[in-house]
Amino acid sequence: MKTFKRSIESQVVLSELMLPSHSNFSGKIHGGYILSLMDQIAFACASKHSGLYCVTASVDKVDFLKPIEVGELVTLKASVNHVGNTSMVVGVRIEAENIQTGVIKHCNSSYFTMIAKDNQGKNVPVPGLILECETTVRRFVRSIIRKEESKARRDRFKESKFDMNEHLDRLDGYNVKIELKK
Ligand SMILES: CC(C)(COP(=O)(O)OP(=O)(O)OC[C@H]1O[C@@H](n2cnc3c(N)ncnc32)[C@H](O)[C@@H]1OP(=O)(O)O)[C@@H](O)C(=O)NCCC(=O)NCCS
Repeated sequence: MKTFKRSIESQVVLSELMLPSHSNFSGKIHGGYILSLMDQIAFACASKHSGLYCVTASVDKVDFLKPIEVGELVTLKASVNHVGNTSMVVGVRIEAENIQTGVIKHCNSSYFTMIAKDNQGKNVPVPGLILECETTVRRFVRSIIRKEESKARRDRFKESKFDMNEHLDRLDGYNVKIELKK
C-alpha cells in the first residue's frame, strides 16, 4: 500500500560554528565548504523521508546572497518540498548569526533534487508527501513550476534543436566578438 509522510518527519537542522580553517584567501567562508554542508543536510533529509540512501541529481540553484564570516554560527534547515516517483526536492535554507550581536542574515536558499537508491543502485519509489498547510502546498507547487521551467530551458537549448541564426542578434552589446569559422 502507498505510504505518505509529513515533511516535518524528515526535517533536519544543523548548526556549525565557522572556523578559520573554513575560510578562503579573503577571510570569508569558502563557498565550497557551505556547498558540502548543504549536500550533507539534503542527503540526511531525503534519506529520512525515503528510508533509503539517496544521491544528488541536481541543485537549483546556489546564490550566495551574503558572505559568511569566520566566527559566525551557520544554521542549515532542510525539508522535503516535493516528491515525484523516485525523486525528492529538498529545500535548504542557510542563515548565519553573528554571535556577539545576535544579528541573523539569510545567506542562501537552494533546492536539491535527491533520488532514492536501493543497495544495488536501482532507483526506488519514495513515500508521498502529506500537504497539511498553505506553506507545504506553496512549496510543492513552486517545485512543480521550477521543474517545468528547468525542463523547458533544457529542451530549448538542446543541441539538436538549437539554431544559432535565431540568436545571433541577441549578442549585440555583449562582451563578445563573433568570428565564425566557415
Ligand atoms: C540522477 C540519476 C539517479 C538519475 O537516474 P536515471 O535512472 O538516469 O534517471 P531517470 O530518468 O529514470 O529518472 C529518475 C528520477 O530522477 C529524476 N531526475 C533525473 N535526472 C534529473 C536531474 N538532472 N535533475 C532533477 N531530477 C532528475 C527524474 O525526474 C526521475 O524522477 P521521478 O522518479 O520522481 O519521476 C542518475 O543519473 C545518477 O545516478 N546520477 C549520479 C548521481 C550522483 O552520483 N550524485 C553525486 C554526484 S558526485
